Amino acid sequence: MIDSGVLDRAGRRVTLRPVDDDNWRAVADVAPRDDQRVWVAALAARYLLLTTRSEVWTSLAVYADETVVGHVMWGVDDDGSRWIGGMVVDAAEQGSGIGRATVVTLTDWLAAQDGGRHPVRLSYHPDNVAAARLYTALGFVPTGATEDDEIVVELVARTGDA
Ligand SMILES: CC(C)(COP(=O)(O)OP(=O)(O)OC[C@H]1O[C@@H](n2cnc3c(N)ncnc32)[C@H](O)[C@@H]1OP(=O)(O)O)[C@@H](O)C(=O)NCCC(=O)NCCS
Repeated sequence: MIDSGVLDRAGRRVTLRPVDDDNWRAVADVAPRDDQRVWVAALAARYLLLTTRSEVWTSLAVYADETVVGHVMWGVDDDGSRWIGGMVVDAAEQGSGIGRATVVTLTDWLAAQDGGRHPVRLSYHPDNVAAARLYTALGFVPTGATEDDEIVVELVARTGDA
């Protein structure tokens, strides 16, 4: 379990846990809002299939206390950069601080794996206002690169880090 002690706005502890025999159905059922499906998969099930077919990505279940509320995955690129992908907070749980808690928890953990030597990167569509605000607020800055139609951003040292 990855636990940085971050709470959502309801006071629930947000943790990231392996996808296992008990929680995979709940993770697969995580769904964004219908209008967000232009940017992300309609169900987290797509990302779970991707991680079973890929040696790069690892899926994690996002929990608020003991409830599955989202999916996120991480991977390491050939250049050593850490990547976050497949970030979806279930539609019913959005706007409660879970997305922010998830990114903070995962970036802290990824940085701890390699002493912060490599940047953490991700990409989002420029029209995805919620994603843009979330990642910008956490200190991600554009690398200048794009992937498909998405902006690549990176976090070198999160605000507040030594
Ligand atoms: C992007 C996403 C993960 C944010 O998760 P969340 O739990 O709703 O986000 P939080 O409640 O932690 O909010 C964090 C910040 O995101 C931004 N944000 C969240 N929802 C927003 C909205 N509807 N409109 C504008 N900004 C929004 C805000 O800056 C917010 O900070 P604030 O509340 O201090 O203003 C969520 O909207 C989601 O799952 N979207 C669909 C999938 C997706 O787009 N994933 C990202 C692909 S890279």
